[in-house]
Amino acid sequence: MCGITAYRGPTAAAGRARVALERLEYRGYDSAGIAARRADGTSLHVRTVDGVASLSGPLEARGMDATTAAIGHTRWATHGGVTEQNAHPIEDCSGRLFVVHNGIIENADVLRADLLAAGHRFATEVDSEVIVHLLEQALRPGRGLGDALAEAVRPLEGSWAIVALDTRSGALAGTAHGSPLIYADAGDGMYLASDVGAVAPMIDDFRVLEDDDVVQLDGDGLRWHRADGSSRPRGRWPVPQTALLASTGRHRDHMGNEIDEQPAVARRVIDALAPGISDGRLWRGLGLPPLDGIDHVAVLGCGTSLNAGRAIAGAFGRLGAMPTRSLIASEAGHEVWEPRTLVIAISQSGETADILRALERLPRDGGPVLALTNNASSSLARRADAVIDCLAGPEIGVAATKTFIAQVLTGVCVALSGLSTTGRVDPNLFASELRALTATPDALAAALETWRPTMTALASDFSRASGFLFLGRGGGLVYAAEGALKLKELSYRWAEHQPAGELKHGPLALVDAGTPVFVIDDGDPRLEVDIAEVTARGGRVVRIGERVLRVGGLPLHLPRRGPSWGPLETVVPLQMFARELALRLHRDVDKPRNLAKSVTVS
Ligand code: M6R
Repeated sequence: MCGITAYRGPTAAAGRARVALERLEYRGYDSAGIAARRADGTSLHVRTVDGVASLSGPLEARGMDATTAAIGHTRWATHGGVTEQNAHPIEDCSGRLFVVHNGIIENADVLRADLLAAGHRFATEVDSEVIVHLLEQALRPGRGLGDALAEAVRPLEGSWAIVALDTRSGALAGTAHGSPLIYADAGDGMYLASDVGAVAPMIDDFRVLEDDDVVQLDGDGLRWHRADGSSRPRGRWPVPQTALLASTGRHRDHMGNEIDEQPAVARRVIDALAPGISDGRLWRGLGLPPLDGIDHVAVLGCGTSLNAGRAIAGAFGRLGAMPTRSLIASEAGHEVWEPRTLVIAISQSGETADILRALERLPRDGGPVLALTNNASSSLARRADAVIDCLAGPEIGVAATKTFIAQVLTGVCVALSGLSTTGRVDPNLFASELRALTATPDALAAALETWRPTMTALASDFSRASGFLFLGRGGGLVYAAEGALKLKELSYRWAEHQPAGELKHGPLALVDAGTPVFVIDDGDPRLEVDIAEVTARGGRVVRIGERVLRVGGLPLHLPRRGPSWGPLETVVPLQMFARELALRLHRDVDKPRNLAKSVTVS
């Protein structure tokens, strides 16, 4: 979502903050800005709606090399339009203080009215501006910036990660509440950032600000105030592999490379986790209670992570016959929770505000929470009872691809390991699930090779189609959902998924001559009727994952039962189609409009 960087050191602070900001730009890219203090005590303030790279020229022209403290921000708009005026850093009435903010201030309107009445002048439409004026009020003579920031945030409601710069003293101060912020010492300077990825190449380890911690970085070094009154920060975290940016490989975009990496990612997950399945070692190693002591499973996620959760739910439900629900995190507050429920919270970033909020609202006497994430130091990981890293490696494209594969496989390994010692599953069936699991990397590789030319051709055929349907049944439905999500996210065309049996109850009215209808074929014979209903109306069916032979012109279904998590490899051609269509329509496939990689507002 929005990204924050800050640096304090001997020289070129604005340049350091800008370079770090560039590494965060894929997370939110509506506008960007830098504010800095020059060694002579003057300030520098540059903002743009043209991307972080365009900050370089103006920064150089205005004496970037002589700066000793700087803050930077890349914005994903919530309140106020995408304009230079609304870009952060935001300044106070005097031009002395600057603030960058991630999150949402829910009571900004009330605070703004009070501050206006007190004589403050507002220059933007954004909720964040109240923070800098509250700080202006709190920074009384003789008081440190950190103490002033602690007072300034007291009336705020909502979520925030904030870094403030005092251009008079050159001090920086940061605080967080429900939004991530980290501190790192690079040896030749100190950084604050909303994501370790911003500064990963410059540091060996980092510390995380817990909710309501306040840090001050000034000429005396670092001062840390914890919410409980202590001044000792919690332990250091090593820089995770996911924080290091990946290359685009042979593609011009990260997404293309990330799709191609999926067989290797699948192999990595299976090599690491599968040895702990049959004897339940993987499950026990997570510190979870035996599955026999759990009555219900609830998987929680948003977007693609929710779809991954739905696939994982298949392993607990279809295979283990456990009552299992998959829940949209932003709606989970309306749920009634049964006791002894295992909650599996799934998020590649581990910073999704909807997930974190859902966890806050779980009943205190409920069951354990397992975090399944690609970021083991994330807020989600730190709040869960148990954590499993999905080992996807860095994913830069906003559209989740390899993290989806990694999440599904990691969750399935955990589920199978938990079920292995319960006696709930027939041993022959269990063995066939294990075989399907270990065959996944090859199935993904085959899907890549088989479907690539077809998807390129289809993207050309369907480039003028205004809407798309994705159909599936049972275990195939989740992949239909994922295909529709990828397509709308990347191409900006309407796409919806439906259980194929529902077609005749309404959605069939959408089908006309030439309407593209993707069918995820998991071998369910009833799909033949669904497909016939579409073709009878002129719809163009693209069947993915076909398990049907034609004998004398008649369909003969192969008697093959797919695994409990459904035909995972079918997602590959759907990802490829979405990307190919988007490229044909000249969309930025790595940074689709209006979206962000890490959604830190709820
Ligand atoms: O970081 P998370 O996995 O929690 O993100 C959840 C969704 O925002 C995310 O999966 C989103 O739907 C993807 N960009 C879709 O490709």
